Amino acid sequence: MKIFSGIQPTGQIHIGNYLGALKQWVELQEKNECIFCIVDLHAIASPYDPKKLQDLILEKAIAYMAAGVDPAKSIVFVQSEVKEHTELAWLLNTVTPVGDLSRMTQYKEKAKKFEKNLNAGLLNYPVLMAADILLYKTEMVPVGEDQLQHVELTRTIAKKFNLRFGETFKIPEAHLPKIGAKIMSLQKPEKKMSKSDSPESFIGLFDEPEIIREKISRAVTDAGKSIKYNPKLKPGISNLLAIYSVFSGLQIKEVEKKFHGKGYADLKKQLAALLVLKLETFRRKRKELLQREVYVKEILKQGAKRAEVIAQSTMQDVKKKMGLI
Ligand code: TYM
Repeated sequence: MKIFSGIQPTGQIHIGNYLGALKQWVELQEKNECIFCIVDLHAIASPYDPKKLQDLILEKAIAYMAAGVDPAKSIVFVQSEVKEHTELAWLLNTVTPVGDLSRMTQYKEKAKKFEKNLNAGLLNYPVLMAADILLYKTEMVPVGEDQLQHVELTRTIAKKFNLRFGETFKIPEAHLPKIGAKIMSLQKPEKKMSKSDSPESFIGLFDEPEIIREKISRAVTDAGKSIKYNPKLKPGISNLLAIYSVFSGLQIKEVEKKFHGKGYADLKKQLAALLVLKLETFRRKRKELLQREVYVKEILKQGAKRAEVIAQSTMQDVKKKMGLI
């Protein structure tokens, strides 16, 4: 199966990104044709520092590989290095209803946040994402729950295009993990864990052991004492249970059983120990890769070359269908 996904080079990669996206990628790359992108053109739609962007891009490439993305199995590249992404995005704009774009949850949230200087890039963001996906005739898009709506819109855009210009794109499906599709903030467990929030609200994929222990011990919990999974009534504890479940490989029910009769402090202590242990390999691999910048840059260069070949062939087809050549 053809697979595409990406992460924005903003902030620090956290365990939400890992469980929603990266962990699935690493599993899927074994039996599928995978393309994993660092979506820098998406990142520039929100305020950012141009001087720091190159470092953030390289950092994300290192994070992908440290988490287990294997460049011998998957194509890894930077979005802006394959210009067909922006080209296809413009063409897809012409079949995308503005009403659909303005209804996107992420757009509405950003529109509120950047009320004073809202740029058109934020509205058109999902069209560029559709271009990313459709350019590679993608069939499956492994993402967290917050991206589901964008993948749905990509399906709508692909169907509209096919109907208007003839069968061109495959209709892609989102692929969400059973548990971990929406990891919540450690500080505000009714909100998703986010790279743009303060560091104590998330566990970075490369956080050092003492930082992990501190952040987990400070995580907001709920009233009462029992360790039960109930996201509505006990969002804090349910989030910690979900994280424990995915990192331990135990079902939520089994985790509940393990902590039956124990207190919140026990759960936190054991969860911190589990995370310290499970993230150890990532920290080590990242440190190794930080010493090999030239190698990582070469991977990205080769990745862009391979992606470009596929992207150019799709663009030929699309332009022919649209009467542009
Ligand atoms: P981004 O950079 O916000 O997030 C990257 C991936 O991490 C997932 N994720 C989460 N999963 C579980 N719990 C969380 N708290 C959590 N926070 C983030 C996201 O769902 C995502 O899978 N628009 C995308 C990037 C993108 C893309 C694409 C993705 C651009 N083009 C094409 C797939 C295909 C984004 O902003 O992801």
